[in-house]
Amino acid sequence: MSSKQSSPILTRRAFVAASGGLVLAPAVLRAAAGVQWKINPFSLGVASGSPSPDGFVLWTRLAPEPENYDPAAPAGMTGPATPVSYEIARDPQMKTVFRRGAAMADPAYAYSVHAEIGGLEPGRPYWYRFISGAARSNIGRAMTAPAAQTALEQMRFCYASCANYEHGYFSAYRHLADEQPDLVIFLGDYIYEYADLRSTDLVRAHSEKTDAKTLPGYRNRYAQYRVDPDLQYLHAETTAMITWDDHEVQNDYANQSSQDFADPAAFLVRRAAAYRAFYEHMPLRASAQPNGAMMHVYDRMRFGDLLEVSLLDGRQYRSREACYRRPDKGGAHLETNASCPERLDPARSLLGNAQEQWLYDGLAKSPARWNLIAQDVMMSVFRQKNAAGEIGYWTDDWNGYPAARTRLLQHLEESRVSNPVVLTGDIHSFWANDLKHDFDDPNSPTVATEFIGTSITAHGPSYDAFMKYMPDNPHVRFFDSRKHGYVSVTLERERMNVRFQAVSDARDKDAGISLFRSFVVENGKPGVAPA
Ligand SMILES: [Fe+2]
Repeated sequence: MSSKQSSPILTRRAFVAASGGLVLAPAVLRAAAGVQWKINPFSLGVASGSPSPDGFVLWTRLAPEPENYDPAAPAGMTGPATPVSYEIARDPQMKTVFRRGAAMADPAYAYSVHAEIGGLEPGRPYWYRFISGAARSNIGRAMTAPAAQTALEQMRFCYASCANYEHGYFSAYRHLADEQPDLVIFLGDYIYEYADLRSTDLVRAHSEKTDAKTLPGYRNRYAQYRVDPDLQYLHAETTAMITWDDHEVQNDYANQSSQDFADPAAFLVRRAAAYRAFYEHMPLRASAQPNGAMMHVYDRMRFGDLLEVSLLDGRQYRSREACYRRPDKGGAHLETNASCPERLDPARSLLGNAQEQWLYDGLAKSPARWNLIAQDVMMSVFRQKNAAGEIGYWTDDWNGYPAARTRLLQHLEESRVSNPVVLTGDIHSFWANDLKHDFDDPNSPTVATEFIGTSITAHGPSYDAFMKYMPDNPHVRFFDSRKHGYVSVTLERERMNVRFQAVSDARDKDAGISLFRSFVVENGKPGVAPA
């Protein structure tokens, strides 16, 4: 079916309301009712995110033909901004609709909708759906955050990262959604920008067999992921906080430095396209709208007096990878102290100076009992000894920015931050790490705890190769790269219960789930403890 046939047919009145720029909600509501569709436009489902005590963001994107990759008709949409209305209810069947509103799906943002909802009650679920003409979306469930001053006894959340569509099915997402946590945190690599042309055992393929590099390319990639039924189910059931890692743009990029040495100006054009498509597909507030190649995703959210989450951006502001040099050292690589003294330069930052200061200030002021730092790449020291006995460090994670890591850990100690725990993705394997005051002294005090979640599907590093490194890394209390899944956490006043959840087989559409390992952090006692 051509895009013309499936684009909305607006009544004259609706068109006037929709194209009139600033329109009042009642007019948009009426306009939304007048839109006619030949195909249901809600093929990409719904999502909620950015929770506050009085609301959240509700998201959808009009996409009657999600696999229409014509850049002039993204997902089958053409024409002017299109009005969409929404309903919010207090019950799952939506019998008690108490709020109706409307928003415009703007072609400049791929006809996505980001409705910022306020005035709700704290700490409870709501249900919602979108409506355009006779078309209705599926019903989603969204949670508001508990009020900041609430003495909260418990909070349940999960976190996930690294969902390579080509490497498997998203069963882990389905099982995560079944838990109905209060919150899900995405730690990056929500999409993979490249088409895997090397692996011979792909489970399924990206529709476009080239790297996403342009706005249409990134949009199409997100649309393909969002058609996945497990991912749709996850977004419909949970409220999200979302940051990114590298693959939302390009493998191992750092700020304006591409791993393939692209001219920075050209790379920033690509980054702008990737950031824009990220915004278009995520339940983010308008304050996160990108400005060219810049986009503010780091954020802080409070959940009663129990929890504050600092969600970081580890890509946009970082110093270039240490010893960035041809022929093949644009992205991550191993360097020893002797081969790359630049790595140790205290001027290097993974977060950039402004975000570092923002993080330190927030942590120092936080009244929450637990302070989680949710971010993309491994923070713990990890020594990788080669055959010659030299210790190498991976330049793409915090091991490439050791002075910045020391600054952060010192700040946690000096500001007496209450129960700091780092949540990490990126490395496609489960880890439980003690973050030490001095990593060279195994008896040095533990300052904080790091739990790394494995990938949803993306291939992990060699288990045997990494296990050989472990004698040089006694602060790594657990490691396994042979599983895919996610991390499920029940946070209580006296302890944090961490469960590594593993799917039976990421290559199996109907994979089951089981508890793989569990750990505890006790209130006031940083470090990994047995469950
Ligand atoms: Fe990844």
